[in-house]
Amino acid sequence: MSHACQCHTSEHDLMPAPYSIMTIEKHTPLEWTFRVQTDLPAQLGQFVEVSLPLVGEAPISVSDCGDGWMDLLIRNVGKVTSALFAKHPGETIWLRGSYGHGYPIDTFRYQKLLIVAGGTGVAPVKGLLRYFSEHPEEIEQLDMILGYKNQESVLYKREMPLWRETHHLTVTLDEGQSDGPYRIGRVTEPLQELDIRDIHATRAIVVGPPIMIKFVVQMLQDKGFKAEQIWVDYERRMACSTGKCGHCRMGNIYVCVDGPVFNYAQAQNFID
Ligand SMILES: Cc1cc2nc3c(=O)[nH]c(=O)nc-3n(C[C@H](O)[C@H](O)[C@H](O)COP(=O)(O)OP(=O)(O)OC[C@H]3O[C@@H](n4cnc5c(N)ncnc54)[C@H](O)[C@@H]3O)c2cc1C
Ligand code: FES
Repeated sequence: MSHACQCHTSEHDLMPAPYSIMTIEKHTPLEWTFRVQTDLPAQLGQFVEVSLPLVGEAPISVSDCGDGWMDLLIRNVGKVTSALFAKHPGETIWLRGSYGHGYPIDTFRYQKLLIVAGGTGVAPVKGLLRYFSEHPEEIEQLDMILGYKNQESVLYKREMPLWRETHHLTVTLDEGQSDGPYRIGRVTEPLQELDIRDIHATRAIVVGPPIMIKFVVQMLQDKGFKAEQIWVDYERRMACSTGKCGHCRMGNIYVCVDGPVFNYAQAQNFID
Protein backbone atom coordinates (compact mmCIF):
# COMPACT_ATOMS: atom_id res chain seq x y z
CA MET A 1 0.00 0.00 0.00
CA SER A 2 1.30 3.45 -0.86
CA HIS A 3 2.08 5.89 1.93
CA ALA A 4 1.49 8.89 -0.37
CA CYS A 5 -1.68 10.77 0.48
CA GLN A 6 -2.42 11.80 -3.09
CA CYS A 7 -0.75 11.15 -6.41
CA HIS A 8 -2.32 13.65 -8.80
CA THR A 9 1.06 14.95 -9.86
CA SER A 10 4.67 14.18 -9.03
CA GLU A 11 5.94 17.67 -9.87
CA HIS A 12 6.64 20.20 -7.17
CA ASP A 13 4.50 23.20 -7.62
CA LEU A 14 6.59 26.34 -7.10
CA MET A 15 3.61 28.70 -7.13
CA PRO A 16 1.55 28.94 -3.94
CA ALA A 17 -2.08 28.00 -4.60
CA PRO A 18 -5.14 28.86 -2.50
CA TYR A 19 -6.83 26.17 -0.42
CA SER A 20 -9.72 26.27 2.01
CA ILE A 21 -9.41 25.58 5.76
CA MET A 22 -11.85 22.75 6.56
CA THR A 23 -11.47 22.62 10.35
CA ILE A 24 -9.26 23.99 13.11
CA GLU A 25 -8.56 21.83 16.16
CA LYS A 26 -7.14 23.71 19.16
CA HIS A 27 -4.83 21.36 21.09
CA THR A 28 -3.39 24.16 23.28
CA PRO A 29 -3.67 27.96 23.09
CA LEU A 30 -0.50 27.99 20.96
CA GLU A 31 -0.80 24.81 18.86
CA TRP A 32 -3.66 24.23 16.46
CA THR A 33 -4.21 21.71 13.69
CA PHE A 34 -5.44 23.27 10.46
CA ARG A 35 -7.11 20.69 8.22
CA VAL A 36 -6.85 22.02 4.69
CA GLN A 37 -8.82 20.87 1.68
CA THR A 38 -6.13 20.05 -0.86
CA ASP A 39 -5.07 17.47 -3.40
CA LEU A 40 -1.38 18.40 -3.19
CA PRO A 41 0.70 15.22 -3.31
CA ALA A 42 2.28 14.55 0.09
CA GLN A 43 4.11 11.89 2.03
CA LEU A 44 4.24 11.73 5.81
CA GLY A 45 7.34 13.59 7.00
CA GLN A 46 7.45 15.98 4.04
CA PHE A 47 6.64 19.66 4.51
CA VAL A 48 4.79 22.43 2.70
CA GLU A 49 5.37 26.18 2.53
CA VAL A 50 2.29 27.85 4.00
CA SER A 51 1.73 31.48 3.06
CA LEU A 52 -0.56 34.46 3.33
CA PRO A 53 -0.23 37.25 0.75
CA LEU A 54 1.55 40.36 2.08
CA VAL A 55 2.51 38.46 5.26
CA GLY A 56 5.00 35.76 4.31
CA GLU A 57 5.72 32.05 4.20
CA ALA A 58 6.59 29.38 6.78
CA PRO A 59 7.62 25.75 6.28
CA ILE A 60 5.24 23.41 8.11
CA SER A 61 5.37 19.59 8.30
CA VAL A 62 2.59 17.49 6.84
CA SER A 63 1.35 16.03 10.12
CA ASP A 64 -1.26 13.86 8.46
CA CYS A 65 -3.02 13.60 5.13
CA GLY A 66 -5.67 11.67 3.27
CA ASP A 67 -7.93 11.81 0.27
CA GLY A 68 -8.47 15.54 -0.36
CA TRP A 69 -7.11 16.84 2.96
CA MET A 70 -3.87 17.65 4.75
CA ASP A 71 -3.32 18.40 8.45
CA LEU A 72 -0.83 21.06 9.54
CA LEU A 73 -0.06 21.38 13.26
CA ILE A 74 0.98 24.99 13.63
CA ARG A 75 2.60 26.62 16.66
CA ASN A 76 1.93 30.33 16.93
CA VAL A 77 5.42 31.80 17.23
CA GLY A 78 5.75 34.71 14.82
CA LYS A 79 4.61 36.72 11.85
CA VAL A 80 3.07 34.11 9.54
CA THR A 81 1.80 31.74 12.20
CA SER A 82 0.04 34.49 14.19
CA ALA A 83 -1.67 35.68 11.00
CA LEU A 84 -2.78 32.07 10.39
CA PHE A 85 -4.25 31.94 13.89
CA ALA A 86 -6.60 34.78 12.91
CA LYS A 87 -8.11 32.56 10.17
CA HIS A 88 -11.34 30.54 10.46
CA PRO A 89 -12.72 27.42 8.76
CA GLY A 90 -13.88 28.31 5.25
CA GLU A 91 -11.15 30.92 4.80
CA THR A 92 -8.20 30.55 2.45
CA ILE A 93 -4.51 29.88 3.00
CA TRP A 94 -1.85 29.30 0.35
CA LEU A 95 0.36 26.23 0.03
CA ARG A 96 3.21 25.10 -2.16
CA GLY A 97 4.96 21.73 -1.99
CA SER A 98 5.08 19.13 -0.71
CA TYR A 99 8.85 19.20 -0.33
CA GLY A 100 11.71 17.00 0.76
CA HIS A 101 11.96 13.38 1.77
CA GLY A 102 9.46 11.92 4.22
CA TYR A 103 9.58 8.70 6.24
CA PRO A 104 10.49 5.48 4.42
CA ILE A 105 7.34 3.78 5.69
CA ASP A 106 8.02 0.59 3.72
CA THR A 107 11.27 0.19 5.67
CA PHE A 108 9.26 0.19 8.92
CA ARG A 109 6.38 -2.01 7.80
CA TYR A 110 6.29 -5.47 9.51
CA GLN A 111 9.28 -4.45 11.68
CA LYS A 112 9.66 -3.30 15.28
CA LEU A 113 9.53 0.47 15.43
CA LEU A 114 10.41 2.83 18.26
CA ILE A 115 9.34 6.48 17.96
CA VAL A 116 10.71 9.07 20.39
CA ALA A 117 9.29 12.54 19.84
CA GLY A 118 9.14 15.74 21.83
CA GLY A 119 6.85 18.78 21.78
CA THR A 120 5.77 19.88 18.31
CA GLY A 121 8.15 17.18 17.05
CA VAL A 122 5.21 14.82 17.54
CA ALA A 123 3.47 16.55 14.59
CA PRO A 124 5.64 15.10 11.78
CA VAL A 125 5.12 11.54 13.11
CA LYS A 126 1.40 11.89 13.92
CA GLY A 127 0.36 10.46 10.55
CA LEU A 128 2.60 7.41 11.11
CA LEU A 129 1.07 6.86 14.56
CA ARG A 130 -2.43 7.08 13.08
CA TYR A 131 -1.55 4.77 10.19
CA PHE A 132 -0.03 2.02 12.33
CA SER A 133 -2.83 2.34 14.91
CA GLU A 134 -5.40 1.81 12.18
CA HIS A 135 -3.27 -0.98 10.64
CA PRO A 136 -1.65 -2.71 13.65
CA GLU A 137 -1.22 -5.85 11.54
CA GLU A 138 1.36 -3.95 9.42
CA ILE A 139 3.83 -3.46 12.27
CA GLU A 140 5.35 -6.12 14.48
CA GLN A 141 5.72 -3.84 17.48
CA LEU A 142 5.40 -0.10 17.98
CA ASP A 143 6.79 1.67 21.06
CA MET A 144 6.07 5.39 21.32
CA ILE A 145 7.68 7.70 23.86
CA LEU A 146 6.28 11.21 23.55
CA GLY A 147 7.55 14.05 25.71
CA TYR A 148 5.88 17.36 26.55
CA LYS A 149 6.63 20.24 28.90
CA ASN A 150 3.49 19.90 31.03
CA GLN A 151 -0.11 18.68 30.86
CA GLU A 152 -1.27 21.87 29.17
CA SER A 153 1.16 21.37 26.27
CA VAL A 154 0.17 17.77 25.46
CA LEU A 155 -0.84 17.38 21.80
CA TYR A 156 -3.19 14.76 20.33
CA LYS A 157 -4.99 13.89 23.58
CA ARG A 158 -8.01 12.80 21.52
CA GLU A 159 -5.97 10.26 19.52
CA MET A 160 -4.01 8.81 22.45
CA PRO A 161 -6.56 6.21 23.64
CA LEU A 162 -6.33 4.44 20.26
CA TRP A 163 -2.53 4.65 20.18
CA ARG A 164 -2.42 3.23 23.72
CA GLU A 165 -4.87 0.48 22.89
CA THR A 166 -3.08 -0.73 19.76
CA HIS A 167 0.58 -0.19 20.75
CA HIS A 168 2.88 0.82 23.64
CA LEU A 169 2.58 4.49 24.48
CA THR A 170 4.46 6.38 27.18
CA VAL A 171 3.88 10.12 27.61
CA THR A 172 6.32 12.10 29.74
CA LEU A 173 5.96 15.60 31.17
CA ASP A 174 8.98 17.72 32.14
CA GLU A 175 7.04 19.25 35.00
CA GLY A 176 3.84 18.70 37.01
CA GLN A 177 2.23 15.91 38.99
CA SER A 178 2.43 12.28 37.96
CA ASP A 179 -1.19 12.02 37.01
CA GLY A 180 -3.22 9.43 35.12
CA PRO A 181 -1.57 8.51 31.85
CA TYR A 182 1.46 10.78 32.28
CA ARG A 183 4.88 10.15 33.75
CA ILE A 184 7.09 12.97 35.06
CA GLY A 185 10.61 13.16 33.62
CA ARG A 186 12.48 13.30 30.33
CA VAL A 187 11.87 10.93 27.41
CA THR A 188 15.29 9.41 28.06
CA GLU A 189 14.08 7.86 31.35
CA PRO A 190 11.48 5.44 29.90
CA LEU A 191 13.85 4.92 26.96
CA GLN A 192 16.61 3.81 29.32
CA GLU A 193 14.20 1.33 30.97
CA LEU A 194 12.82 0.00 27.68
CA ASP A 195 13.67 -3.65 27.29
CA ILE A 196 14.44 -3.98 23.59
CA ARG A 197 15.11 -7.67 23.01
CA ASP A 198 15.68 -7.61 19.29
CA ILE A 199 17.74 -4.49 18.72
CA HIS A 200 18.99 -5.52 15.28
CA ALA A 201 15.36 -5.92 14.13
CA THR A 202 14.20 -2.58 15.55
CA ARG A 203 14.13 0.78 13.75
CA ALA A 204 13.94 4.09 15.58
CA ILE A 205 12.64 7.56 14.66
CA VAL A 206 13.71 10.54 16.75
CA VAL A 207 12.03 13.94 16.29
CA GLY A 208 12.17 17.01 18.49
CA PRO A 209 14.47 19.79 19.66
CA PRO A 210 18.15 19.27 18.64
CA ILE A 211 19.23 18.69 22.26
CA MET A 212 16.62 15.94 22.65
CA ILE A 213 17.70 14.30 19.38
CA LYS A 214 21.32 14.37 20.55
CA PHE A 215 20.68 12.64 23.89
CA VAL A 216 18.17 10.13 22.54
CA VAL A 217 20.39 9.10 19.62
CA GLN A 218 23.33 8.73 22.02
CA MET A 219 21.25 6.50 24.30
CA LEU A 220 20.05 4.40 21.36
CA GLN A 221 23.63 3.90 20.22
CA ASP A 222 24.65 2.97 23.78
CA LYS A 223 21.89 0.36 23.71
CA GLY A 224 23.38 -1.10 20.54
CA PHE A 225 21.45 0.57 17.73
CA LYS A 226 23.53 1.15 14.61
CA ALA A 227 23.28 4.57 12.92
CA GLU A 228 21.53 2.87 9.95
CA GLN A 229 18.63 1.86 12.24
CA ILE A 230 17.88 5.45 13.30
CA TRP A 231 16.00 8.22 11.42
CA VAL A 232 15.99 11.85 12.51
CA ASP A 233 13.99 14.86 11.35
CA TYR A 234 15.83 18.19 11.08
CA GLU A 235 14.39 21.70 10.97
CA ARG A 236 16.53 24.49 9.57
CA ARG A 237 15.67 28.05 8.53
CA MET A 238 14.33 27.77 5.00
CA ALA A 239 13.41 30.14 2.20
CA CYS A 240 13.00 28.57 -1.25
CA SER A 241 12.55 24.96 -0.05
CA THR A 242 13.69 23.80 -3.48
CA GLY A 243 17.48 23.59 -3.13
CA LYS A 244 18.20 26.97 -4.75
CA CYS A 245 18.87 29.60 -2.06
CA GLY A 246 21.20 27.77 0.33
CA HIS A 247 19.43 28.93 3.54
CA CYS A 248 19.09 25.37 4.83
CA ARG A 249 22.54 24.18 3.75
CA MET A 250 24.65 22.01 6.08
CA GLY A 251 27.97 21.30 4.37
CA ASN A 252 26.95 19.93 0.99
CA ILE A 253 23.47 18.90 2.19
CA TYR A 254 20.29 20.90 1.53
CA VAL A 255 17.85 20.00 4.30
CA CYS A 256 14.87 21.11 2.15
CA VAL A 257 15.52 18.62 -0.65
CA ASP A 258 17.74 15.96 0.96
CA GLY A 259 15.70 15.91 4.23
CA PRO A 260 14.06 16.90 6.46
CA VAL A 261 13.99 13.18 7.34
CA PHE A 262 17.48 11.65 7.29
CA ASN A 263 18.89 8.29 8.14
CA TYR A 264 21.38 8.87 10.95
CA ALA A 265 24.15 7.08 9.06
CA GLN A 266 24.07 10.14 6.81
CA ALA A 267 23.06 12.77 9.38
CA GLN A 268 25.88 11.94 11.81
CA ASN A 269 28.35 13.34 9.27
CA PHE A 270 26.63 16.71 8.80
CA ILE A 271 28.67 19.83 9.38
CA ASP A 272 26.43 22.60 10.76
C1 LIG B 1 11.02 21.41 7.65
C2 LIG B 1 10.33 22.24 8.70
C3 LIG B 1 9.15 21.81 9.23
C4 LIG B 1 8.48 22.57 10.21
N1 LIG B 1 7.32 22.10 10.70
C5 LIG B 1 6.61 22.85 11.57
C6 LIG B 1 5.34 22.40 12.04
O1 LIG B 1 4.85 21.34 11.68
N2 LIG B 1 4.67 23.21 12.88
C7 LIG B 1 5.17 24.42 13.32
O2 LIG B 1 4.50 25.11 14.08
N3 LIG B 1 6.38 24.86 12.90
C8 LIG B 1 7.10 24.10 12.03
N4 LIG B 1 8.33 24.56 11.59
C9 LIG B 1 8.87 25.81 12.15
C10 LIG B 1 8.26 27.03 11.47
O3 LIG B 1 8.53 27.00 10.09
C11 LIG B 1 8.90 28.29 12.08
O4 LIG B 1 8.50 28.41 13.44
C12 LIG B 1 8.55 29.56 11.31
O5 LIG B 1 9.56 30.50 11.54
C13 LIG B 1 7.25 30.20 11.72
O6 LIG B 1 7.05 31.35 10.93
P1 LIG B 1 6.56 32.73 11.53
O7 LIG B 1 6.63 33.75 10.44
O8 LIG B 1 5.25 32.57 12.22
O9 LIG B 1 7.60 33.01 12.66
P2 LIG B 1 8.81 34.06 12.61
O10 LIG B 1 8.28 35.46 12.57
O11 LIG B 1 9.76 33.63 11.57
O12 LIG B 1 9.40 33.78 14.05
C14 LIG B 1 9.94 32.50 14.40
C15 LIG B 1 10.80 32.64 15.64
O13 LIG B 1 11.87 33.51 15.39
C16 LIG B 1 11.82 34.56 16.31
N5 LIG B 1 12.16 35.79 15.59
C17 LIG B 1 11.49 36.36 14.58
N6 LIG B 1 12.10 37.47 14.18
C18 LIG B 1 13.18 37.61 14.97
C19 LIG B 1 14.21 38.56 15.06
N7 LIG B 1 14.28 39.63 14.26
N8 LIG B 1 15.19 38.36 15.99
C20 LIG B 1 15.16 37.31 16.81
N9 LIG B 1 14.19 36.37 16.77
C21 LIG B 1 13.23 36.53 15.88
C22 LIG B 1 10.42 34.63 16.84
O14 LIG B 1 10.34 35.18 18.13
C23 LIG B 1 10.06 33.19 16.84
O15 LIG B 1 10.53 32.54 18.00
C24 LIG B 1 9.02 23.80 10.64
C25 LIG B 1 10.24 24.26 10.10
C26 LIG B 1 10.88 23.49 9.16
C27 LIG B 1 12.16 23.98 8.57
S1 FES C 1 15.62 26.46 1.63
FE1 FES C 1 16.58 27.23 -0.14
S2 FES C 1 18.10 25.70 -0.51
FE2 FES C 1 16.93 24.86 1.12
